[in-house]
Amino acid sequence: MIKIGASILSADFRFLKHEIEKVENAGVDFIHVDMMDGHFVPNISMGIGIANYVKKITNLPVDVHLMVENADIFLNEFKDMDFITFHIEAVRFPFRMINKIRELGAKPIVAINPATPLDMIEYILEEVYGVLLMTVEPGFSGQKFIMPMLKKIKRLKNLIEENNLETKILVDGGINRETAYLAVKSGADWLIASSAIFRNPDVNRAVKELRESALK
Ligand code: DX5
Ligand code: ZN
Repeated sequence: MIKIGASILSADFRFLKHEIEKVENAGVDFIHVDMMDGHFVPNISMGIGIANYVKKITNLPVDVHLMVENADIFLNEFKDMDFITFHIEAVRFPFRMINKIRELGAKPIVAINPATPLDMIEYILEEVYGVLLMTVEPGFSGQKFIMPMLKKIKRLKNLIEENNLETKILVDGGINRETAYLAVKSGADWLIASSAIFRNPDVNRAVKELRESALK
């Protein structure tokens, strides 16, 4: 079953609670919170407080996407996150990170930037709940899907199947009603979208279109 996550990066922060209610009513499956520190990526977004606030006001699972350096030092501050996504490029000891995330009661997801080879995560595939393939360079919403990533999704899918694993493939960046179809056809299980959902005046329709595209 394909899942759709709403990344709140493009939401109207004046009305964050209302924005989240809108996507809940539109039937998304989870909420994705993008944390950026201005070092790992050239942008600064939300912090721990917002992530915990989002978790408090929604009944949907929450996934916090850490685009920060030294993420391990504040991991304990997260309250009841469902998924914690860390970047393989930002963490020196990924197995230690995975253990810490599990100790907190969350499911670990490893994220990988577009140009980073899949070899980097080969040995941790069976230790994580999912792999989040960045399909744009991290840092901003509203960018164009990087087409060669379709090959990367396929290769990852093969790797997971060859090893008889259940690891989920998430894609994040540039997902809209055209690319949702292509990503799912290539092997993506979960889709994360921000601008395609929040910048559409009709959020219900936006989510419906993504789902239709994914199921095509
Ligand atoms: C980018 C973030 C994404 C972003 C997606 O660094 O990780 O989650 O919000 O935005 P869209 O869907 O607009 O590409
Ligand atoms: Zn993200």
